[in-house]
Amino acid sequence: MKVLVIGSGGREHALLWRLAQSPSVTEVYAIPGNDGMSNVAHLIPLKGHEDILDFARLMKVDLTVAGPETVLTEGLADEFEAQGLPFFGPSKAAARIEGSKGFAKNLMKKYDIPTAAYEVFTDEDKAVEYLKNNRKYPIVIKADGLAAGKGVIIAQSEEEAIDSVKDMLEGHSFGGAGRSVVIEEFMEGEEASVLCFCDGTHVVPMVSSQDHKRIFDNDKGPNTGGMGAYAPAPVMTDEMMDEVKVKILRPIMAAMKKEGYPFKGCLYAGLMITDEGPKVVEFNCRFGDPETEAVLPLFDGDLAQVMLECVHGNLKKEDVKWKKGCAVDVVMASEGYPGS
Ligand code: AMP
Ligand code: GLY
Repeated sequence: MKVLVIGSGGREHALLWRLAQSPSVTEVYAIPGNDGMSNVAHLIPLKGHEDILDFARLMKVDLTVAGPETVLTEGLADEFEAQGLPFFGPSKAAARIEGSKGFAKNLMKKYDIPTAAYEVFTDEDKAVEYLKNNRKYPIVIKADGLAAGKGVIIAQSEEEAIDSVKDMLEGHSFGGAGRSVVIEEFMEGEEASVLCFCDGTHVVPMVSSQDHKRIFDNDKGPNTGGMGAYAPAPVMTDEMMDEVKVKILRPIMAAMKKEGYPFKGCLYAGLMITDEGPKVVEFNCRFGDPETEAVLPLFDGDLAQVMLECVHGNLKKEDVKWKKGCAVDVVMASEGYPGS
């Protein structure tokens, strides 16, 4: 089959590299890709949904996979589906699980999925009043919208919290992503990422991984989109993974189906393993970066086939197999990151 991956980063390179090894795959394309991928994929310098759709239709692409969340929250999956073109990734409605933190939190509350206690605010005075009545610091302030993993402030004091809320609601930080804010309880524990194959009904987790978010060694400096990852994450024992399936993964799949926007594609559960058990930090509607670069080398099967099963709603657990061992990746970033 012919496979197309949309995106240009390390995550997309890992996807292309693994897809190129699928026994069922004959051709691999990247839009737009980057020069480092030219040994595994044909690079197609296109952008814009229309051009991507035309390419997939004309080339008779059998499977398209989206890397970044933006094309998903913009509804590219719906456009592919409308033309009968197989696409691995959620609909616009389902992608709100990442696109709006308020939406995701409300869904988790409704279906009793463990996560940090929270409130959503659009009114600055109400948010400030809430913070003045709060006695527990640190507290977490999140811009409600896509901010490339950088719209989160862990405020150590009331003053810092109020400043962050004002900044986000008045639109100084994180661009347009800050029109409403989520203020939530700080969860103590170790983090782990669980990426999952989903077909709208069934969910099969991949090996766990752990992303390291601080810019400097020894967990110092500001949070980034991730400076490196390894898989599997030792904190995610078999027993813990079973608990995650029962309390988090199956309930969220069932909830999204029941609400009328079943999730197909890769669901990313960012978890905090607390003394009270696993809790959701966030859901993403796509593969993680840099987690994917550590997870996919351990995948042992026909990735394109598994993705097509997700598209067609007949995901089979037996087809998702893993190698023993572990993998690690390290990110090189420009000086100044995560600033400009
Ligand atoms: P998010 O964009 O929601 O994944 O948040 C980015 C990072 O902020 C997470 O990976 C955590 O390290 C941290 N974080 C977010 N929410 C919380 C929370 N409620 N408690 C503790 N840490 C958090
Ligand atoms: N590694 C964090 C993310 O992909 O959002």
